[in-house]
Amino acid sequence: MIGIFDSGFGGLTVFKEIKKALPDYNYIYLGDNLRAPYGDRGQEIIYQFTEQAVNFLFKQGCDLVILACNTASSDALKKLQQEWLPANYPNGRILGVIRPLTEEATKVSRFGKIGVVGTTATIKSGAYLRELKHLSSLARLCPTIKAWQQACPLLVPLIEEGWLDKTETRMILKKYLRPLKDQQIDTLILGCTHYPLLMKEFKRLCGKRVNVLNAPKIIAAKLVDYLQRHPELEQKLVKQKAVRYLTTGDPKTFSKLGGKFIGLEISAEKIVL
Ligand code: DGL
Repeated sequence: MIGIFDSGFGGLTVFKEIKKALPDYNYIYLGDNLRAPYGDRGQEIIYQFTEQAVNFLFKQGCDLVILACNTASSDALKKLQQEWLPANYPNGRILGVIRPLTEEATKVSRFGKIGVVGTTATIKSGAYLRELKHLSSLARLCPTIKAWQQACPLLVPLIEEGWLDKTETRMILKKYLRPLKDQQIDTLILGCTHYPLLMKEFKRLCGKRVNVLNAPKIIAAKLVDYLQRHPELEQKLVKQKAVRYLTTGDPKTFSKLGGKFIGLEISAEKIVL
């Protein structure tokens, strides 16, 4: 079984594309809505919460857990992969979203000028910049990558309020993007699960010369590729098309709001972490 973890609803944008690309598998989606948002919390608490959630998903029988949340990927993934997993579930796998997005960005960027937007915690962690630097030192294709990042803390609450078409949201987004545009970036990584819901605005404000990456589609395509390269894991995954949605918050609210993120009617169950 594949587990998908997010701090709340946002990861459903990613899960939607994963389910489209890989419809046959069994999935558990877990949103820690009770303790969301993670984006303005500190690194240690984000790690603790993520470890609890991942532990829960492995206990449910997951073989692979995807951290769809950028904040959790930035602040918890490395330690989970390097220390926690070998000690607790040596046969389990945990993947995040930073590697697939930075790989794609370095591949498609024309002039190696990459911008990253995300929550305060994601940006503070420097995880995207570190990964871009690492890839740029490996790849001969794009050795001169330069990257800039911008925290956009107001976007998650605005998106959750449904303020997608409001002038206020547009003005705030414009202000956030200004410093990146001043650097003449050619590629933009939307390093937050919620931002794809503002894709049209991002594209419009960035202009035609900037490639705004469609994060959920890229993550889904990289997962397809990953499973092809790891048949020993792929063979273990149950394929009965069963999906469960779990939340630490109110299941009714999750079903209603989550349904909007995924574009489906869903019914969530409450769990305690
Ligand atoms: N899911 C988070 C992310 O992708 C955004 C919401 C939050 O701050 O918890 O960074």
